Amino acid sequence: MMSAREAAFKSSSKRRFDRQLFSTQTYQLRPDDETGAAREALVDLVVDHLATYPDGDGIGYFLVEGASFGRSVEQVREFSRELFGAVWERFRSRCRRIAPEREFFCAETVTEDGNIPIGLFGSHWSFKPPHADRNGVIFSHVYGPTVGFEGGDVFLIDAIAYFQTSGLHFDEALTWSDEPLEQKAVLRSEHFEAAVHGYGRRFGKMNHDRILFVNNTPEGLFHGATEIHAADPSNFSRVLHRCVVRERG
Ligand SMILES: [Fe+2]
Repeated sequence: MMSAREAAFKSSSKRRFDRQLFSTQTYQLRPDDETGAAREALVDLVVDHLATYPDGDGIGYFLVEGASFGRSVEQVREFSRELFGAVWERFRSRCRRIAPEREFFCAETVTEDGNIPIGLFGSHWSFKPPHADRNGVIFSHVYGPTVGFEGGDVFLIDAIAYFQTSGLHFDEALTWSDEPLEQKAVLRSEHFEAAVHGYGRRFGKMNHDRILFVNNTPEGLFHGATEIHAADPSNFSRVLHRCVVRERG
């Protein structure tokens, strides 16, 4: 049986892609965005960007900058968690394809890259080739502390737009990861450069000044990071705070 992701990639409705728009979506946080009408408007703005066709005209992600102003890493994580909860509620209420009887929950994790329990993903390192997560509807990322390494540039790719424009078959562009628990849809390495340059955005090394919200539904985006080179492992830190909505069962 065809997976929902495979069906989204094979959909006959042509994906609109505007490279300029995709590579410039950044919002500078203001002090009054935390409360009242401004906060409600910020939640709307994030949802507008996350909701891709047919749920909306969004591009599939939203980047908030300026989060570290007056906030520690822990306070940014807290702010991100609260905002994420509100975004999910509104996202769900807007997405008519998410049937009311389906049950979801928000999970929150803090992951130390290079130090991840091996039983979790089969590697001490987070998964970095361009991919979609197996069972995540939307997610948020806050990185930090991040020190002692080169590379690790976070990126997003509109893999459906790349796939449709290139005229590739599903198996030509995509493969599956070989993790023990959850196999992920992965863009084949030979397509990385063309896809990230033509249909993606590189965010560079992220820190806790930025909160990245991503749509991971079958119609959403692929995410990943470039190779990491840690010159001094004793002074290495790449911590990722993540909120994700998963479906129960
Ligand atoms: Fe992932």
